[in-house]
Amino acid sequence: MIFFLLSVWQEESVVQMLWEKVHSSLTGMEQMIEIVLMIKKIAYLTAVILITALPAAEAVYAADTGITVNNYITEPEKAFTAQDLRLILDRSLSVNETENAGKEDSSEKNGKEVEKKEGYPEGDTVSGDGADTEDEKNEGSEENGLFIPEEGDEWMLLLVNKQNPIPDDYAPELTDVNGSIKIRSEIALPLSEMFDDAEKDGVSLMVCSAYRSHEHQRELFDRKIRNYTGRGLSYLDAFRIGSYSVIIPGTSEHELGMALDIVTPGYMNLNEGFADTAAGKWLKDNAYKYGFILRYPKGKEYITGIIFEPWHYRYVGKEAAKLITQKDLTLEEYIEEMEYRYDNE
Ligand code: DAL
Ligand code: ZN
Repeated sequence: MIFFLLSVWQEESVVQMLWEKVHSSLTGMEQMIEIVLMIKKIAYLTAVILITALPAAEAVYAADTGITVNNYITEPEKAFTAQDLRLILDRSLSVNETENAGKEDSSEKNGKEVEKKEGYPEGDTVSGDGADTEDEKNEGSEENGLFIPEEGDEWMLLLVNKQNPIPDDYAPELTDVNGSIKIRSEIALPLSEMFDDAEKDGVSLMVCSAYRSHEHQRELFDRKIRNYTGRGLSYLDAFRIGSYSVIIPGTSEHELGMALDIVTPGYMNLNEGFADTAAGKWLKDNAYKYGFILRYPKGKEYITGIIFEPWHYRYVGKEAAKLITQKDLTLEEYIEEMEYRYDNE
């Protein structure tokens, strides 16, 4: 915090100095150069303030109250594993086979074929790279390195954050994985594929929180606020600090059924330490291959408005996930770029 204030003070001094120079008896050209330099300094100062605002606010509260912004919400007793996912997928495949019996002549009814009939986007199937299949029309298009989803697949890129609440008519089909945790049905298969591959690499993953109803998100949020007010913060401060880690009801991706809090049996804490576990590292390197992104990365808090959450992954589809991960973007930046392209077409 001291360094932060010093840097602000220093920057202000530089701006002041430049301003005085502009008003001295410089030539027109020199004045122009001074003004450009001043603008550069002001832009830098703004960036410094933005980038340090969240950690600085945290540090002040930690110092004053002993409270750090941390997401401790986990329900490990309800968590589901790769095995639960396999069971639920096997069950839905066999239900589907029974329903389809007699309706069609399919002697080669392996998993992948059934998935396509159920309407999973081609890009999400086990084969994944099946660019030369009949279902190419479901793959969207890539324009100048930016993936634009096909009509009907826009749900994958639905942006929900503090500025963009969940649309009123959002009503996804949910799959209940283990009797307590639900996910949006379309993501069951890519998630299962990811968990299976992690297991092959010796990494065990578990989902401890996925879909949350609006009421459930409200309970978690209220609990967070109570925790902070109980430690002496005013309601407004508790609200502001609390919403860095548990997002305001109606704006949580968990209400979409496309966000997952992922842990591993040896580390069930939702905190930064998860990033250093084998599971955290595996997810960071591999999740995009299955259509998932690290939604709240470190260093982008000023964009997402949420602390670094190495455990929180969001489904966006394989193509977008690859671009977002490889270009080190947030979903906000990706959508902004997409909208810019649309507007300037
Ligand atoms: N922890 C994430 C930000 C949520 O509450 O949705
Ligand atoms: Zn989460």
